[in-house]
Amino acid sequence: MAQKIVTLITGGEKGLGLKTAQALSKQGQVIVIGALDTQKAKAAVEAMTKAGNEASYVALDVTNHAQVQAAEQYLEDKYGYLTILINNAGIVTDAMKPSQEIPLAALHQEFDVNFFGSVDVTQTMVPLLKKAEHAQIINLSSNMGSLGLATDPNFPFYNMTSLGYAASKAAINFETVSFSKDLKEFGIAVNSVNPGFTDTEFGGRNTNDPKPAGMQTPDEGAAQIIKMASQNPHPANATFTENAGELPW
Ligand SMILES: NC(=O)c1ccc[n+]([C@@H]2O[C@H](COP(=O)([O-])OP(=O)(O)OC[C@H]3O[C@@H](n4cnc5c(N)ncnc54)[C@H](OP(=O)(O)O)[C@@H]3O)[C@@H](O)[C@H]2O)c1
Repeated sequence: MAQKIVTLITGGEKGLGLKTAQALSKQGQVIVIGALDTQKAKAAVEAMTKAGNEASYVALDVTNHAQVQAAEQYLEDKYGYLTILINNAGIVTDAMKPSQEIPLAALHQEFDVNFFGSVDVTQTMVPLLKKAEHAQIINLSSNMGSLGLATDPNFPFYNMTSLGYAASKAAINFETVSFSKDLKEFGIAVNSVNPGFTDTEFGGRNTNDPKPAGMQTPDEGAAQIIKMASQNPHPANATFTENAGELPW
């Protein structure tokens, strides 16, 4: 009998992570939400289980190594493997601030969550991913982390600098490239996805505020993540994509 697909989504209790969790749950994947806010995660899990699907949550601050290890232990005890890891948890603390004015502490904070957090979760989950029939890792990147786009005057966000956020997302792209090479021999696909500019509470946005031009709905933002996670075994490795297709690194 084929293994059930077990999917861990960090920051899966709200925003794009929740949209992704709900869609993959409807497809029958077993969802484990790695949550900073366990109250929200509890409500999300209850809705999924009420609909007849298997879901649970673990307390998971990606900057807390003890919690990362406890999440691995939980998955090990309950399933013995992990099929899909979605590194979705992310923050921005320096949106559109001039580079020369961003406190170093803000840069550290962004790297701690966006880069070091996702690397720690990935390294810790690799033994479980190796035990899945067809594993994959999806890293939530951003078009803001593309050096190709950041240096292209035609890129709509060319003049928007957010040094820490953009650099941490570029680092995530390197995380994708590095892990994709190192995990290829184990049949684990590793890819980056750009959800695009989306109407979530990201960066403290109030979703009741008017939508700026070009802002997508959460369904549109989650579509490429869901598409990637729905293909298992995953045919692509070391790609950086969005709804419209491939992006330059
Ligand atoms: N929305 C966009 O326009 C956009 C564009 C490009 C890329 N992205 C990326 O998409 C991902 C999801 O963003 P979103 O729009 O869904 O934003 P969101 O609604 O703010 O969701 C981010 C999630 O990450 C969680 N999180 C923050 N710090 C964490 C930590 N230390 N450990 C575990 N979880 C943590 C948040 O929890 P709390 O809210 O409780 O802090 C929240 O659940 C992020 O990686 C973001 O960079 C978003």
